[in-house]
Amino acid sequence: MTHVASAFYGSFFHAPVYGSFEYLENALIEVDERGTIARVLREGEPEHAEALAAHRTRGTLTELGANRYGLPGFVDIHVHAPQWPQAALALDEPLYLWLEQRTFPLESRFADLDFARTVYRDLVQQLMARGSTTTVYLGSAHLESSIELAAICAELGQRALVGKTVMDDPAANPDYYRDASPAQAVADTETLIREVEGIGRASRQGIWPVVTPRFIPSCTDEVLRGLGQLAERYGAYVQTHCNEGQWEHDVVLERFGKTDPYALRDFGLLREHSIMAHCPYLTDDEGEMFAELGVAVAHCPMANSYFSSAVAPIKRFRQQGINVGLGTDISGGYSPSMYENIRQAVLVSRLLETGVDAQRPADERGLGDARISLAEAFWLATAGGGQSLGLPVGTFEPGQAFDLQVVDVKRRDSDLTGFGVFDQPADRLARILYLATPDNVRKVYVQGRLVRDKDAE
Ligand code: GUN
Ligand code: FE
Repeated sequence: MTHVASAFYGSFFHAPVYGSFEYLENALIEVDERGTIARVLREGEPEHAEALAAHRTRGTLTELGANRYGLPGFVDIHVHAPQWPQAALALDEPLYLWLEQRTFPLESRFADLDFARTVYRDLVQQLMARGSTTTVYLGSAHLESSIELAAICAELGQRALVGKTVMDDPAANPDYYRDASPAQAVADTETLIREVEGIGRASRQGIWPVVTPRFIPSCTDEVLRGLGQLAERYGAYVQTHCNEGQWEHDVVLERFGKTDPYALRDFGLLREHSIMAHCPYLTDDEGEMFAELGVAVAHCPMANSYFSSAVAPIKRFRQQGINVGLGTDISGGYSPSMYENIRQAVLVSRLLETGVDAQRPADERGLGDARISLAEAFWLATAGGGQSLGLPVGTFEPGQAFDLQVVDVKRRDSDLTGFGVFDQPADRLARILYLATPDNVRKVYVQGRLVRDKDAE
């Protein structure tokens, strides 16, 4: 039996089942020495009082404290780390111009390892400050700075999945920023896999490599095939953009005579826990295929609004049994906050349901029956991310990693108590999810270890 090292006492919200949340009032969560949840004791259960007293006596008890709630750390499954300096910029451009004029020049600067270190360290800290305890990163096209990103996550204590972006097609990428050749891109990705696996083995919380073709339009057939084989050989995660917008959809169809998802599948890039960002154009048949293969969709509601001319139908995806998590898509979305993306996920689903052009008859305006609830969006940001990645994160259940954010609902400039009016657990959770600011997130734990303590700063 593993040894219970510590215990956390307080009130917690989590969403183990899609569609609802659970409120654990005055619960005791016991955590073993590896940072895994050993036991969750609810108030009133036979052993609750005894265990609470024992931990108090032993000095192994952490109390969340008054006006504080524990939420699972967020799982952000789509972040472009080198785009952090341009978060919030140029979002009124179409995707191809945004890439050409802003993103490629910026990402090319990550050949400079010192610059990369400065930006990446800040990004990882800012994400953790907003409660993100697991993040899936796309690095730049540079091997060294991408490995450095993994090392920074390991050092700062964040759980991370890290890829080096592959973009090798000379016809599609600028000379100053692309892989030298398909062979070099595959070789660099293999080096990344080995190095990042090593970093992960030495870490407590886990760091994993990700095979990362940027998207089909920036890659040659040769590199896509090579990356598919590499993913197979190493059993590695894969991430890419899939079906993000009309332009991508048309380009891929023209090139292969089939859509993005089938082309990716045929290159061996759709595997269990492969992470496909966006997917608003995914058809029913493609969705069935994703569900069968265990492929995950990274829903990025902000990028849908800016770049997709469409909103991913998450309600249908979930009905089809597809794994879905939430991504900030920095900087296709402007916000590093998963709170903000939970809000946006709900909002865009409402617009998808009703439509937006009031000059059309109401029953022809939207998709109908497409909204997702706040509890569903909360699930996407936590348990859904964990399920997408096949990692034991996102809920407070035995066997899960203990990743916690402690939210103080009574900060001077962000009081979320509602003056005691409408004070059911659902009301409390809604205020937290809709109104929390970074200042409300006081402490963050990953794998049982305190990685950020704003109270002590
Ligand atoms: N498609 C290819 N590259 C990118 C990127 O950096 N961001 C987004 N949102 N879509 C992409
Ligand atoms: Fe993206």
